[in-house]
This record gives sequence, C-alpha cells and structure tokens, in this order.
Amino acid sequence: MGVQRPQDNSVIDLSTQGYDCLKLEYCPNSDLFDLVRNIMRTGEAEKRPFVLGLPLSRYLIRKVADVIGHMHHNVGLAHLDIKVENILFDQDYTPKLCDFGFSYDIKAKIFEQQGTQGYMAPELNYGYSQRGYDGQLADIFALAVTFFILVFGIPPFHRTDDSDVYYKIFHQFTNEDKVLKFIRLHPATKANKDFLIDQDHSCDAHAKEHARQTHHFIEMIMAMVSPNPSRRPQSIIELFESFEFMRPNPLYDISDDEARSQLRNLISKHRQTANK
Ligand SMILES: Nc1ncnc2c1ncn2[C@@H]1O[C@H](COP(=O)(O)OP(=O)(O)O)[C@@H](O)[C@H]1O
Ligand SMILES: [Mg+2]
Repeated sequence: MGVQRPQDNSVIDLSTQGYDCLKLEYCPNSDLFDLVRNIMRTGEAEKRPFVLGLPLSRYLIRKVADVIGHMHHNVGLAHLDIKVENILFDQDYTPKLCDFGFSYDIKAKIFEQQGTQGYMAPELNYGYSQRGYDGQLADIFALAVTFFILVFGIPPFHRTDDSDVYYKIFHQFTNEDKVLKFIRLHPATKANKDFLIDQDHSCDAHAKEHARQTHHFIEMIMAMVSPNPSRRPQSIIELFESFEFMRPNPLYDISDDEARSQLRNLISKHRQTANK
C-alpha cells in the first residue's frame, strides 16, 4: 500500500468503491534500508556523516519530511511506522513512502502500541494503554530515527529508555556543548570526532559549512527524540520553520532530476556489486 504527493495525482481512494486500501505504483528499485546497508558494507562508512553525501542526504530528509507533513496536515493521518524500510524507490528513483497499515486519525489519542521497536518513542513503551499518545509526535520521533540512519548508516539507539546508554546521550546534556559531547560519545560519530571538530575550526569554507550542517543535524535530532513529547517540534511545519538544517541552502540544494540521477547511479552500482 502507499501514498504519494497529491500533485502527482496518484492517491487513489478505493474506500468509496468498497475497498479499504490505497494504490502505489510499483517501486522496483529497492528501499532506503537496502541502499544505506549496501553503502555501509562497501566500507564507504569512512565518509560518515552523510553516507549518501550531504546534498542527497539533505534532499531525502527534506523530501521525506515533506511527504509526512502532507500526510499529517492535508490527509489528517499519522503514519505510525516510519522507517528506512518503508521508503521505496520507484521506476524513476523517486522516493515513495509505503506501508499504511498502522495509519491513524491525527486528532485521536492512540492507546495501542504501533510501530517498530527502535523507532518507537518512549511514550509508546510505557503507560500508553492508560494515557494514550499523540500519533503526530510519535511520527516525529520515528522520523528522527529514520534520518539518523540515513545520515550515519547505523541506528541512534536500540531502545528508548535509560538502560540504553546511547538514547541517554541525546538528552542528558542541556548546555550549549551538548552537540560536541554527543560527537565524542556516540559510536556514529566518535571515530570521526577529530575530523568533525577540526573541520569546525578549518579555514576551508566548505569544510566549515559541512561541520555546521552536521551540528545543525544533530541539534535537530536531539529535539525530535526528546523523551517528553511536548519538547519535540510539535509538527512538520515547525520542523521546517525552526531548524536551520531544514532551510534551503544554495550550497547543497539539488533538483529532483539531480537527486534521481544520483540515486540511480548509487542503486545500480550497489546492485552490480551485490550480483558479483
Ligand atoms: N509499491 C511497491 N512496489 C514494490 N515493492 C513494494 C511495494 N509496496 C510494498 N512493497 C514491498 O513489500 C514490502 C512490504 O510492504 P509494506 O507495505 O511495507 O507492508 P508490511 O511491511 O506491513 O508487510 C515492502 O517492504 C517492499 O519490499
Ligand atoms: Mg513495511
């Protein structure tokens, strides 16, 4: 099942014809999970962060956020299973969100645990059957985990409680050095910490901007995975408005055509390697 942006005119609501489903065109080019995993396997992980390169990573993050924003604000549904496996690439290498099995009215409080462990916000692990939770804020949490995997090639944490030391790293620091502390401690960044910190002081304007983008990205993720849902960005609109990382950036912005061409090259390169 699936949905795409309305201007493509391909969301087909069959519920009026007695079916409870949506149609998504065939997506023969695998998914974001496979793409990231294949890149990590080839050892290109040395290039962390932004294993797909900064322009393509930014493009995919803004695109996926835009699709979720459309779903929340225009369709009125929370997805509740956002993850790298549910972002497919169609015939033209356009990313498409799929898997609407858990989707739920955005205005309703939800009393059932829905989603995938590792992507589920803490309120989905404790007390949800009594207190209920907000699907939109649960999606924002899962979106952060998805973005993190896309950028670093590994999950940010495995569980959302204090027994998971990596989840703690995201919210135990409140001062202004919190991003640097994160970089020193988290397995996704600590191998590159000298590089990331040196880059910050580099005279090379490009390297400096790359470091700035990394900091902006980590800051945004820290807010999105706050244990307290009311401390997360409250909507996708707020995500675009309040975080520097989501703003247009002429240094890195690429067109749909350029993104599709980069995705085609990456996916076919890794398909050939996998077939050898
Ligand atoms: N439109 C599609 N084109 C190609 N493959 C698809 C498409 N929709 C789903 N799939 C494949 O089927 C898998 C399962 O579909 P999904 O909708 O995610 O259901 P679920 O994960 O709940 O079983 C996807 O991960 C993907 O590999
Ligand atoms: Mg799925």
